[in-house]
Amino acid sequence: MKVLIEAEEIREAVAGLGETLARDYLGKKLTVVGVLTGSVMLLADLVRAMNLPLRISLIRASSYRGTSTRPGELEVDEQLLDDVAGRDVVLIDDIFDSGRTLDSLLEILRDRKPASLRSAVLLWKTGRQQVEVEPDYHCFRIPDVFVVGYGLDYNGEYRYLPHIAGLDDSELQPQDDPGLM
Ligand code: IMP
Ligand code: MG
Repeated sequence: MKVLIEAEEIREAVAGLGETLARDYLGKKLTVVGVLTGSVMLLADLVRAMNLPLRISLIRASSYRGTSTRPGELEVDEQLLDDVAGRDVVLIDDIFDSGRTLDSLLEILRDRKPASLRSAVLLWKTGRQQVEVEPDYHCFRIPDVFVVGYGLDYNGEYRYLPHIAGLDDSELQPQDDPGLM
């Protein structure tokens, strides 16, 4: 495992994003919607960096099965999502990869008639995008490697790491060789 982004770099970038959002949403009826489980670290750090009155809501999405790094069918659980009608919503996720998750979740949120809707991610993986939509805010662009830490997992592991690390092929199951994705 190789460290790609140190904890200190993440702290600085998240603080910067928090300041930007605080400026953009001053005086608005903001609801920050975190995508479980990957966004928990970002969500917790970001709202504290914003230092602004806001509501926190959650939605659950999963697209990976078992040890696979390849996306499967997207499963969404809206049970934890509060009413966002008429509110200014920012959807928060850990990473923008193919973009299918963000695209689908924005669609679901749009149906609930928010006053405005934007998205923010910690990481934006280069060269993998399969959708038109792009995140409105992001902290880092990263190359096409499978990453873990700061909320991101591989088969449920490594979310607790304070930094972002890249897994190389020998650390992934053979069927998940990114070269085959
Ligand atoms: P997308 O729908 O392809 O954009 O994938 C987004 C979701 O897939 C994220 O919310 C992550 O949970 C997961 N994901 C994508 N790339 C990675 C990665 O490199 N490491 C861990 N999880 C990832
Ligand atoms: Mg996720």
